[in-house]
Amino acid sequence: MNTVKSVRELRAAIAQARAEGKQIAFVPTMGNLHAGHSALVSKATQRADFVIASIFVNPLQFGPSEDLGKYPRTLLADQEKLVDAGCHLLFTPDVGEMYPHGIDDQTRVSVPGVSEGLCGASRPGHFEGVATVVSKLFNMVQPDLAIFGQKDFQQLAVIRTLVRDLNMPIQIIGEPTVRAEDGLALSSRNGYLSSEQLNVAPLLYRSLEEMAAAIRAGERDYAKLVSAAQAQHSAAGFRPDYLEVRESNSLRPATADDRQLVILLAAFIGSTRLIDNLAFELDIPT
Ligand code: PAF
Repeated sequence: MNTVKSVRELRAAIAQARAEGKQIAFVPTMGNLHAGHSALVSKATQRADFVIASIFVNPLQFGPSEDLGKYPRTLLADQEKLVDAGCHLLFTPDVGEMYPHGIDDQTRVSVPGVSEGLCGASRPGHFEGVATVVSKLFNMVQPDLAIFGQKDFQQLAVIRTLVRDLNMPIQIIGEPTVRAEDGLALSSRNGYLSSEQLNVAPLLYRSLEEMAAAIRAGERDYAKLVSAAQAQHSAAGFRPDYLEVRESNSLRPATADDRQLVILLAAFIGSTRLIDNLAFELDIPT
């Protein structure tokens, strides 16, 4: 696997792969890779002949009080994982390479609708930062397809929408969340958790499963389910951010008639904010 830091080197490597007639798959990341990222790269190797990953901790998507400074940078370990997963080329630009004219004057991409509410409400500017950097990366790499984790469900919806609205000829693939045995969704931010916090964190996914089971059994009072689950979370030491039942394609608040649902949550444990979601389909009544 080659690692390149400049757009010029990236484009040269891609031109060579294209000249060899290769299909290109792209996995953008912020590094500190775990088994969830490796699964995205493995999937990419099944779908294309040339797999490119990027590692860039994007300042534009972090709020002023967020963890940009302490976000883990683990390049050597990440490179090993990418090689093991079958990646061919790694792009690791620095901030000057991505934003050569400064961050303040950078053209921004904003995606209305699906960016609003949920993480969009709790992290103002976050999805504009994601949409901007992903658009830039897509223009630099010009992949045939790009793969993202479904753990960031709203992010995936934002990226699908921007690709559609900006006519980018890129197929977007969402891959299922990889979980620890206890159900905890793998996340780079899990590394911030103490062993005590790691013991309670799986409660979040358990309550998503319980809520989904209740909905499958016929419960349609979503507000009641949400307040019961949040009371449980608070009692276990979480500070709930949001917990909502939404229609999974549009991300609008779910009605009793919707069949394709996703329950999304964000909660703080100590100073660490965890997100998770569970998407499911209800049987159509016969
Ligand atoms: O999901 C991530 O790691 C980031 O938000 C992404 C898509 C790489 C953009 O910086």
